[in-house]
Amino acid sequence: MPVCECSHADQADNTDISKRCFPEIDEILSHYADIEGSLISVLQKTQDVYGYLPEEVLRYISDSMGIAPAKVYGVATFYKQFRLRPNGSHIILLCEGTACHVNSAPVIEEAICEHLNISDGGTTEDGLFTLSIVACLGCCSLAPVMMVKGPGGTETFGLLTSKKVRKILDEIAARERKTVQ
Ligand code: FES
Repeated sequence: MPVCECSHADQADNTDISKRCFPEIDEILSHYADIEGSLISVLQKTQDVYGYLPEEVLRYISDSMGIAPAKVYGVATFYKQFRLRPNGSHIILLCEGTACHVNSAPVIEEAICEHLNISDGGTTEDGLFTLSIVACLGCCSLAPVMMVKGPGGTETFGLLTSKKVRKILDEIAARERKTVQ
C-alpha cells in the first residue's frame, strides 16, 4: 500500500494510525474538507485508489475527519458499493438480466455460491474468485451467461448449467494452481 516517504514513515508504528500517512487520501480529504456530509464521497474516492477500503485507511479517515470509527465502519459496511477486502484475482460477472433470469440464472448463482462458499460481492478465502451479479452482458442468446475476468483476460461462458459452472470454476482454479507452482 502506498504510504508517503516523509519523516513519519521512519517512525511508522503500525499500531498508531496517527503516525502513518497516505498522500492520496490526504489529497481526497483536502478536496472535501469544507463539504458537509462528504464521508460517502471520501470513501468512494478512497476505494477508487485501492480497489477496496483497507482497515488502516478507514481508521486514518476516521481520525482525520474527526468522525467516530463506528460511524465510518457503519457507512462502509452498509452500502453494497463498498468492499472491505480486495477483489479476487478472478471476477465472476454473472448475468441476471431478463433473458438470463428466465433461463435459470438464479439457479446458477446458487450453484456458484454453494461451490465457492461466497455470496454476491464476496471473495473466496484463497482470493481466487469474487462474485458480482450484473445486468445484461450483451450476449443474451447464450443465456444464462457469465464472464470471468482474470489476469489473462476475459472469458465468456454461456448456456450454463449448475454442473457446467462448477466444472468451469474447478478448471480455472486448477489452471491457477498450476501457474503458481
Ligand atoms: S440478459 Fe444475460 S446476457 Fe443479456
